[in-house]
Amino acid sequence: MKNKILVTGGTGFIGSHTVVELQNNGFEVVIVDNLSNSYEKVVDDIAKITNIKPVFKKVDLKNKCEVSEFFKDNHDFFGIIHFAASKAVGESVKKPLPYYENNINSTINILEMMIKYDINNVVFSSSCTVYGQPDVLPVSETAPLKKAMSPYGNTKHICEDIIDDTAAASNINAINLRYFNPIGAHESAFIGEYPQGTPNNLIPYLTQTAAGIRECLSVYGDDYNTPDGTGIRDYIHVVDLANAHVSAIKRMLDKKMKSKVEVFNIGTGIGYSVLDIIKTFEKVNGIKINYKIIERREGDIEKVWADPTLANTELGWHAKHNLDDMLRSSWQWECRRDKNEG
Ligand code: UFG
Repeated sequence: MKNKILVTGGTGFIGSHTVVELQNNGFEVVIVDNLSNSYEKVVDDIAKITNIKPVFKKVDLKNKCEVSEFFKDNHDFFGIIHFAASKAVGESVKKPLPYYENNINSTINILEMMIKYDINNVVFSSSCTVYGQPDVLPVSETAPLKKAMSPYGNTKHICEDIIDDTAAASNINAINLRYFNPIGAHESAFIGEYPQGTPNNLIPYLTQTAAGIRECLSVYGDDYNTPDGTGIRDYIHVVDLANAHVSAIKRMLDKKMKSKVEVFNIGTGIGYSVLDIIKTFEKVNGIKINYKIIERREGDIEKVWADPTLANTELGWHAKHNLDDMLRSSWQWECRRDKNEG
């Protein structure tokens, strides 16, 4: 029981990498996912890496009945890592209600089951989007939260508040991890990001352009107040991000938390521009990228990068991979992805 972890959204991009790192650290993992944006085959791909097939149950977490049914027979968890959520920023602007319904109800249903079955530890998948465009960079956890730029971002802010209030009124301890921009893939290239349809995010669009699936990468604006005019983000290798969750669970197991709810930025502390990304991708993979500068994308912030000092000192976690590693592994995953499908 001590080492059993429930991972919601465990067949998704960050979830699957976290399952691998949990298993590598001796944890027993159960996955629930509704497969709305992932595939059950990922469970076998995880097993190819770790030689352990995690238990998988298809559960729609926004459905209270399904959730109750699942927890009736499965509740001996030390903790829950709650990834399951809809995450397409642009889609959330067009269809806000399904985003609020899915992301918020799923979180409420999980917290209710935690109270019912006395499961006392949750690690929540939050986002640097809760800072909006920060006034001070690098941004630390004490920066004021601003109105999110999208309903998706708003759900992360609201879920953090729901978790805060619930923890205050129950035995629940929570660690909210605010991710910066996760990219890259496992070095085996058995798991990675699998966007459905046309990618919205920079890296999948870039790798699909390199692979000839897309004709040309659009760079959204070169008139920002940054050294080369393009937007700056803190890109973090998904395996490093996965390991931050293992560190958070270990902190809970070791009873090292200093308050009932803790928040950590999970980023490298280094910002790269869109043009830095393109140039580095070309350098490490030896491929030229066809790109053009177009107008800014609505809702984009100019620049953000993390102050990860708190995670470094308190969680004992450090990002180990650099941008070269991230962009090399992203490309390897893109090249292997089709073969993996069989
Ligand atoms: N970009 C392009 N062309 C593209 C896609 C993106 O130039 O085709 C640029 C964006 O303008 C931005 C950078 O690349 O400057 C990164 O964009 P992404 O779409 O990859 O990532 P975002 O920073 O917009 O969003 C990500 C996650 C969200 C999360 C947010 C927090 O997708 O889930 O970070 O800031 F909320």
